[in-house]
Amino acid sequence: MDQENTPRFSDRFEFISGENDLYSLLESFKKSGEDWIDLTISNPTKVGLVYPREAILHSLEKQESIEYDPNPKGTPNARKSITGYYKEKGHNISEEDLFLTSSSSEAYSYLIKLLCNPGEEVLIPSPGYPLFEFLSLLDGVEFNSYKLDQKENWKIDFEDLNSKITTKTKILFLVSPNNPTGNSLTSEEFEKLKAISKTKKIALVLDEVFSDYLHEKNPNQIDFFHTDFPVFVVNGVSKILALPQMKLSWIHVGGPTNWKKECKERLEIIADTYLSVGTPIQLALPELFQWRNMIQSQVLRRISRNLQVLESFHSSHPGIVYTSPQGGWYAVLQSKSFLNDEEFSYRLLEKEKVLVHPGSMFGFEEDSGSIVISLIYETELFQSGLERISTLL
Ligand SMILES: Cc1ncc(COP(=O)(O)O)c(C=O)c1O
Repeated sequence: MDQENTPRFSDRFEFISGENDLYSLLESFKKSGEDWIDLTISNPTKVGLVYPREAILHSLEKQESIEYDPNPKGTPNARKSITGYYKEKGHNISEEDLFLTSSSSEAYSYLIKLLCNPGEEVLIPSPGYPLFEFLSLLDGVEFNSYKLDQKENWKIDFEDLNSKITTKTKILFLVSPNNPTGNSLTSEEFEKLKAISKTKKIALVLDEVFSDYLHEKNPNQIDFFHTDFPVFVVNGVSKILALPQMKLSWIHVGGPTNWKKECKERLEIIADTYLSVGTPIQLALPELFQWRNMIQSQVLRRISRNLQVLESFHSSHPGIVYTSPQGGWYAVLQSKSFLNDEEFSYRLLEKEKVLVHPGSMFGFEEDSGSIVISLIYETELFQSGLERISTLL
């Protein structure tokens, strides 16, 4: 009865399916106060890192925060400090090419609005960041996945990618280092993408949120910023400063001069419509950047220790396929014993009270028996989690 007199919800939500068993079990643990080891944790503020608490809080207390002086692209000082961050990394960029957003998700949403009509298409990497699917659906565009080739160290499978491009394809999403496989884009791949972008009129959107977290030397210093084809780079403090709660990310716009000008005019309209980044965090950003090394070195040390633990776990389980990731905050483990990945994750949580991500959540083939774990967890807990996996195996 109630339903008849209420508006129908948007078709965007057609993807909603029944409740997932793993999720329900987790909810029941929460209700009953049951403790578990969370090998999926990727919230850096919950893994025992030491933050310069007082300094962070102090930098948010600027007098100017009391006034509202909106700038759709973000305050000039905040953007300038971002150019400083890139300068330290050897890239000269202009603050005029930066647009601040409240998250990388919002950055993606702006870019879909900028480039796609409803029903047009975006291409997303598989395995890859699960949020791309939801972001596409919520912004009314179709998505299709292109494969990364495990045999080639997760390089793009260009044959597959080319077969997925249609006349409606507008954006190709890339993540480097990729979540969860950890591989970085190579110059050879970037050259091929350039040719695709130019011939098919497709923009590249490159997420480099994990670029400061490389575990192996990467000889590839690719310039994603000065290109003669459309490349948008997305990054933010969520990973750079391990401060996701501060809600500050950005888009760098790159491409041919005239196109770039028109692009920025349109992006400014979108940004001006939302004006979503808070003033205090923009004013604090230049000071917060000063803590980058202090915070990142802890995360890198943590990951390095956990990778050692993982190596030793791997050596006692030679049946598990595991390659040390080149970068990022995640590791992938594969085994026949993890088949079916969702069932395995459920059993692991039920019997050993350890939570892992089933690989299918990231687009791993069901028959690959993949699970994904976070590398930023406290090492003792990380080790216990792996020991409990051993027990179940
Ligand atoms: C690939 C990727 N991009 C971006 C983010 C950060 O997102 P946000 O800026 O919305 O916190 C994450 C977080 O896990 C991620 O894995």
